[in-house]
Amino acid sequence: MRRAAFLNIDSLRSRLLNAGDFARLAAVWPLPLGSQVTHTTMSRPLASSRSGPLNGVCRVPGDKSISHRALLFGAIASGRTRIRGLLEGEDVLNTARAVTALGAAASKAGDEWIVLGRGVGGLAQPAGALDFGNAGTGVRLAMGLIAGHDMAVTLTGDASLSRRPMARVLKPLIQMGAEVVEAGRDRLPLTLRGSPNLVPIEYVLPVPSAQVKSAILIAGLHAAGATTIVEPEATRDHTERMLRHFGATVSISPHAQGRAVTIAGDAELTARDVRVPGDPSSAAFLAAAALIVPGSDITIQGVLINPTRTGFYATVREMGADIAFLNEREEGGEPVADIRVRGSRLRGVRVPPERAPSMIDEYPVLAAVAAVADGETRMEGLQELKAKESDRLATTAAALTANGVACRVDGVCLVVQGAKSVPGGGRVVTAMDHRIAMAALTLGFAADRPVVIDDASFIATSFPTYESLMTGLGAAIASAGAT
Ligand code: S3P
Repeated sequence: MRRAAFLNIDSLRSRLLNAGDFARLAAVWPLPLGSQVTHTTMSRPLASSRSGPLNGVCRVPGDKSISHRALLFGAIASGRTRIRGLLEGEDVLNTARAVTALGAAASKAGDEWIVLGRGVGGLAQPAGALDFGNAGTGVRLAMGLIAGHDMAVTLTGDASLSRRPMARVLKPLIQMGAEVVEAGRDRLPLTLRGSPNLVPIEYVLPVPSAQVKSAILIAGLHAAGATTIVEPEATRDHTERMLRHFGATVSISPHAQGRAVTIAGDAELTARDVRVPGDPSSAAFLAAAALIVPGSDITIQGVLINPTRTGFYATVREMGADIAFLNEREEGGEPVADIRVRGSRLRGVRVPPERAPSMIDEYPVLAAVAAVADGETRMEGLQELKAKESDRLATTAAALTANGVACRVDGVCLVVQGAKSVPGGGRVVTAMDHRIAMAALTLGFAADRPVVIDDASFIATSFPTYESLMTGLGAAIASAGAT
């Protein structure tokens, strides 16, 4: 059964877990689990099994990062922003609902989404709390928006989001003049009080996070002067690109500690048309499946190939993947290609830590690919995986281990020993994490026995068409019955 798209977290603090799920999640999650998480009746188990060659031409839904930004920037631009290709996943729909509650109505009209922007600083106090569900990007970028307004907004999320660190965003926003009403609180739910008089800052990012960078840049639009963020490692640059598209003054320059991004304050943004390209992180699940199923040949059209996002594709190429970017072009200020992937014999590689920002969401599915490669794959510098929808270092390793794949966590590295065959037959705890769910299903397409996931419902946060697309290409996915 599909869960309600928008849970009212005021009355129901989290999505519910059953006692077994809760115990398993507690075992792999390093942070304290709140007592509000009690039980569920709605998990949806699913199984994948060894598949014949995958074939076909398809498209994946719009990029999640760009979709969130289009809605949020449209909300503070003057005029009517039209968005084509918006990802209609639960995470992004929560952002659409939030900007609507802030006074910038976002709605669908035919093929397009339209946001009626209020101008920088023009948002209104929402009537109630804003619930961002499972979405770190939605809530963290919204914090940057709220910071620049004279209002206090309560922000909530599901059990997964409520455990994720918010101090990384709150600290710079507080330096600029925002305030957390429950002083010192760094987890959701919390109430953020913004200020119409933000001061600009210079801030060196302590973690390589595009969400933190973006929240500060968005707040910086509202500040009285230029705000500079220095990032030691380059992270995805969609905020910089899209803010320029909306008319902001953004400059990027080399800096002794990396790369400096400066945004002019007291900004005025003008509504623009945005075309959202296909999500390379979603496409990675299709590409991975095609790579590990012998004889496959698929083409995924219109995928974003921004170099800050393509680390997975570079890595599998190093592993020997037959993968080509065809028909490279630019769409809406972002590079796009059709990606052709054929089943390939792969070998294990070392994935260096400096590649992490460009493939931060792809490690779980890379681990599934590594399970069938010849030799060892060592993925280094994965500390940020611990702060995702689940502790992905732990949940990825647990998913592999449950299915007979030899792997180990070595500090902040994940080491996977590839083998000719994957036993499968395991049941994977997805821990409210869409990417763990899809990565585990990927493993099943090349496994001797089916791989079962405890709950497929979170896949809808980022990739609502995953199951129909995969089965359309020939992948074997079936309901595993209710628990
Ligand atoms: C995102 C940034 C990344 C990524 C997330 C989307 C974004 O998070 O994992 O899925 O849209 O800015 P961090 O900024 O926390 O690394």
